[in-house]
Amino acid sequence: MSRLDSFIRRMSAQRDILNVISEDVAGLDGPIVELGLGNGRTYDHLRSLFPERRIIVFDRKMAAFASSKPAARDFVEGEIHDTTPEFAGIDAALVHSDVATGYAEIDDETITWLADITVPLLQPGGFAASGMPLNDARLEPLDLPPTVAAGRYFLYRRVA
Ligand SMILES: C[S@@+](CC[C@H](N)C(=O)[O-])C[C@H]1O[C@@H](n2cnc3c(N)ncnc32)[C@H](O)[C@@H]1O
Repeated sequence: MSRLDSFIRRMSAQRDILNVISEDVAGLDGPIVELGLGNGRTYDHLRSLFPERRIIVFDRKMAAFASSKPAARDFVEGEIHDTTPEFAGIDAALVHSDVATGYAEIDDETITWLADITVPLLQPGGFAASGMPLNDARLEPLDLPPTVAAGRYFLYRRVA
């Protein structure tokens, strides 16, 4: 599969999952957390889905398109491994993470700790959607929308 096809499938999966869970997420109080702002496309989609909700966004650097930049108070710059612990207990309704680099040696290492920083951000019953698997007993895997192939994207709910 070409990188273009892979990118399109990943973006479609991300959008379809966020759309499908949006009603359930809207039924929970608490902020939305976005790990990996990048160009800000997903942030822009999240704010269209949750216009009244605080969305706190993390990235190692600000590189978003001008119209997709979060307010300074909602952007946390730095390595997410270092910056997110300060937000533990924030009771997020949704943590979405899109921090893959495409380099296996980097992404395999991220997978070893991504769940550890995600769970403390979530309220019980909160949702985690991720481009990488989140391996933690406190996260129950949920069925994916039929448009999303298994292993393309990952969806969980915090159970404990
Ligand atoms: C694939 S891009 C995100 C794309 C984004 N969803 C969008 O709509 O443009 C991944 C982003 O995650 C960030 N990132 C990856 N690993 C990170 C880490 N360990 N700490 C902070 N940011 C990280 C990168 O800087 C990059 O901007």
